[in-house]
Amino acid sequence: MKNILVIGGAGYIGSHMCKHLATNGYQPVVLDNLICGHREAVKWGPFIEGSMADKYLLEKIFSKYEIKGVMHFAAFCYVGESITEPGKYYRNNVAAPISLLEVMVKKNISNFIFSSSCATYGEPLEIPITEKHPQNPISPYGRSKLMMEQILNDFFNAYGIKYISLRYFNAAGADPDGELGEDHMPETHLIPLVFQTAMGLIKEIKIFGDDYPTKDGTCIRDYIHIDDLAQAHLIALERLLDGQSRGIYNLGNGAGYSVKEVIDMARNITGKCVPYRIVDKRVGDPAVLIGSSQKAVEELGWRPHFPDLHTIIETAWKWHKSHPKGYE
Ligand code: UFG
Repeated sequence: MKNILVIGGAGYIGSHMCKHLATNGYQPVVLDNLICGHREAVKWGPFIEGSMADKYLLEKIFSKYEIKGVMHFAAFCYVGESITEPGKYYRNNVAAPISLLEVMVKKNISNFIFSSSCATYGEPLEIPITEKHPQNPISPYGRSKLMMEQILNDFFNAYGIKYISLRYFNAAGADPDGELGEDHMPETHLIPLVFQTAMGLIKEIKIFGDDYPTKDGTCIRDYIHIDDLAQAHLIALERLLDGQSRGIYNLGNGAGYSVKEVIDMARNITGKCVPYRIVDKRVGDPAVLIGSSQKAVEELGWRPHFPDLHTIIETAWKWHKSHPKGYE
């Protein structure tokens, strides 16, 4: 079995990736410091608790397991927090992965899949956003992801480390079997918060602004199912294993839904009330983010299985209603 090192494999996206790898004949080797991840979400291979900044630990892992590729899901991901605590973001999202890349060079390991973000584009100049759109990120989070894309390019040129960067739009939904889900602490993402409201765990959902230039005044996002993300990562990994040297691809569904549309759909699916209140806009929120994934479709042969928002929300609800307090 081919070993793949999954950094952040105990987190939301990483854990779904591990299940997808295991179902497709790979062994995920998880390295996670459990700051955001959940030990209960690691079920498909060895688990090592630790940080990717720990070069000694990484060397031990690379010596023990014959690692064929590395996937990195261990970045901090709150746009707002990155504005108030930039050092935390640059240390974890840039400095730590540089240590990882240096150990990869030393141990002669290539094939890196990087979780990048549509946040690298900043305020969109045109919709849908393609990979050619200028990258002018407006938050330290977005800048940290862009820096990593540039650093990967430099490591490719200097040492030949092959990589694919995947620029996600809004990852959402959960494992259709109900085994894994989204559990962040603190939770800031729209769909889990809508469910917490539906379950009465919080009083109301706050909508960040309703005077954006959109059809109902609330922000529009492109939600992509977590299993479709995982599928794209696996295809990208196999491309690298087959010889592709590098690539950059958007991953979204090319369809946008407003915050109010998400709330309405969640109301229909849960059959519960979701009270909301309009509050001030959140700093760093563009009005509309919709991606074109045509390049991933054409070049990688990626075919999303759950492109519609209804299924995305339904799978997420399946997990949330059976895990109202998350993994604990
Ligand atoms: N929203 C609310 N109320 C909330 C939470 C969110 O109105 O309580 C709105 C946001 O303003 C936004 C939409 O719901 O318009 C989605 O917000 P999320 O926080 O769920 O997701 P983001 O779009 O902010 O962030 C996601 C990823 C980031 C990534 C970003 C790219 O979580 O990692 O997309 O912009 F960088």
